[in-house]
Amino acid sequence: MKALKQQLGRSYARFATNVAVRFPRLWPLVRPLVRKQFDLLAPEWDGMRSPDAFSPLEAALATVEGPVEAALDVGTGTGAAAFAIAERFPAARVVGVDIAPTMVEQARRKARDRRNVSFEHGDASSLPYERASFDLVTAANMIPFFDELARVLAPGGTLLVAFSSGPETPIYVPFERLRAELDRRGFAHFAEFAAGSGTALLARKPAPG
Ligand SMILES: C[S@@+](CC[C@H](N)C(=O)[O-])C[C@H]1O[C@@H](n2cnc3c(N)ncnc32)[C@H](O)[C@@H]1O
Repeated sequence: MKALKQQLGRSYARFATNVAVRFPRLWPLVRPLVRKQFDLLAPEWDGMRSPDAFSPLEAALATVEGPVEAALDVGTGTGAAAFAIAERFPAARVVGVDIAPTMVEQARRKARDRRNVSFEHGDASSLPYERASFDLVTAANMIPFFDELARVLAPGGTLLVAFSSGPETPIYVPFERLRAELDRRGFAHFAEFAAGSGTALLARKPAPG
């Protein structure tokens, strides 16, 4: 029964991803169940992650040229990617944002003794941040809302999208689609990574001039 529920959950996550990527205006229709699903999964989320789940993200992070002063992890869950950014860029202020309140609670509990990492509740389709607020934005196993990712990233900044199980990840967008959407929004300097069972795509938002 548990396995069946998990399978249904994964299928719904893939369905909601496809809806949000193809028809972003329909996101409010699928949002309630996505939030509910991840709220329920939050207490056991860390135990469900394989040890190499963030290898592709870390491989891509290793190539990011600093300085990174402010970073945002969108759809942060229990915060693993936000903590990975903080490890690599100890001077950065790192924010993780998530739509599921219980995920945010779990992440905050883990961040208690971390000065430079904080977690907030918010929807990636309408982020509560000013334009160009961050010089690094990550989205790990998360539905990409391209307009908002592009809006909050500063010119010259880096966007990193990672999927822990590559195309097998329930929330997954093929790289051709990612590149096409980002290309349309002026991103350049794409780089692809494969590590463990996962993949990551890095893109830069060109600086003016
Ligand atoms: C598959 S989990 C990934 C969590 C974490 N990034 C990781 O890799 O462990 C997807 C996360 O994205 C969050 N999420 C989904 N849609 C969102 C949205 N529109 N805005 C913010 N968070 C969202 C979910 O609540 C969930 O925590």
